[in-house]
Amino acid sequence: RTARFTLDPAFTVGEVNPRLFGSFVEHLGRCVYTGIFEPGHPTADESGLRQDVLDLVRELGVTAIRYPGGNFVSGYKWEDSVGPVENRPRRLDLAWRSTETNRFGLSEYIAFLKKIGPQAEPMMAVNLGTRGVAEALELQEYANHPSGTALSDLRAEHGDKDPFGIRLWCLGNEMDGPWQTGHKTAEEYGRVAAETARAMRQIDPGLELVACGSSGQSMETFAEWEATVLKETYDLVDHISLHAYYEPFDGDVDSFLASAVDMESFIENVVATCDHIGARLKSKKRINLSFDEWNVWYMAKTQAEVSALDWPEAPRLLEDNYSVTDAVVFGSLLIALLRHADRVTVACLAQLVNVIAPIMTEPGGAAWRQTTFFPFAQASKYGRGEVLDVRVDSPRYETKKYGEADLLHATAVRAEDGSVTVFAVNRSRTDSLPLDVALSGLELTEVVEHTALADADPDARNTLAEPERVAPHPAEGTQLRDGTLTAVLEPLSWNVIRLR
Ligand code: AHR
Repeated sequence: RTARFTLDPAFTVGEVNPRLFGSFVEHLGRCVYTGIFEPGHPTADESGLRQDVLDLVRELGVTAIRYPGGNFVSGYKWEDSVGPVENRPRRLDLAWRSTETNRFGLSEYIAFLKKIGPQAEPMMAVNLGTRGVAEALELQEYANHPSGTALSDLRAEHGDKDPFGIRLWCLGNEMDGPWQTGHKTAEEYGRVAAETARAMRQIDPGLELVACGSSGQSMETFAEWEATVLKETYDLVDHISLHAYYEPFDGDVDSFLASAVDMESFIENVVATCDHIGARLKSKKRINLSFDEWNVWYMAKTQAEVSALDWPEAPRLLEDNYSVTDAVVFGSLLIALLRHADRVTVACLAQLVNVIAPIMTEPGGAAWRQTTFFPFAQASKYGRGEVLDVRVDSPRYETKKYGEADLLHATAVRAEDGSVTVFAVNRSRTDSLPLDVALSGLELTEVVEHTALADADPDARNTLAEPERVAPHPAEGTQLRDGTLTAVLEPLSWNVIRLR
């Protein structure tokens, strides 16, 4: 049966915030070292940044880049990461049982963002695991104060005369997780987050602050955590964070393909919790969502990988190699974020290079695009503008985890010039899905392009040996006639249909 929906500019979700296409660089495995930074690499510039990676990062279209963690930030001493490189200490990184050399630090991160271009924005996390209010303030003064104080002058002495101007800050990371160094109860975290936020705003009331929400919807403390933290911080923060990673369990690919069902319910449940606290506080303010870690991650094998480590430098960790199936799920997660663009105003793909990443590198060697690179790059390029309200009438299929789910998952974004891009996933592993879209009140006459990411082998991947095995291809037969778009979505496919 045919899947259908109607697009009408009178029915919209909201404007896409460019920060929805953020990413994440953590000091973890080879994300930084031999990922973005590798002095001596044939493409490295004078500061050690790999140009081949920078080119791919620009092509990917990332905006805000969260740094320096992740779990790493809960042991982070920012002052180790600044000043002359030869004086920077080597430290134990408890989160990843690795040795942190601090050869790449705060100033190098800001230089990296500048090299990407004006679309790249810093999103800096402070350590609320082993540290607290005082160290957050010191970091803020070092990073943002223009001059004339001990720490702002120290920054200038270190070679960065101009302040970094970091506007978006995360108040810790995953503080609800027992694995987190300095893990806290919701009450403990709510208090320290509130006091840190209050103090940081004493220096600069214009900051945008993100409080830690839950590390996942399945956490036992989920929702109660958000409610408790927000009771303390509601007037002091702008966003609450969400993190979610998906992988197939026991070979259950059908449930895996419907992962966005969970992501959408997670978003809606956090929105409900934020608004409930807002109502109880009789506040007119609205807390938005920072989905600052999301991806497909084969997490089951990570624990063993990490516990086997004996404090190496930049080990190979979390280097998942993504298949076509993974990319289709990944695309569906992007659709879920866009469908909630009214409240999800920041999102960070975790992570950027080598660590559960769209870009892979070989030390001294090549850099290449994983399958997941393509949905992200296309969504970032064409998913700018106003999200239209898409309500699908789709054939359904049975999943063990989520019950009946739609085979079609879709959204559409209308750009300023009136052109529209439909993003659609067919979750069926066996059948093509005919699609009819009624276009009402839209002056669209032409299909510019329909590309699909799909393959006869759903397990196909890009690798060092075969870096261009998978890429989107043109889809056949898509038409726009008499106000109706008709297309056929290949089995297990991510589709981008551009109309003007
Ligand atoms: O992205 C990998 C890790 O996942 C991050 O360090 C942590 O915040 C999350 O658990």
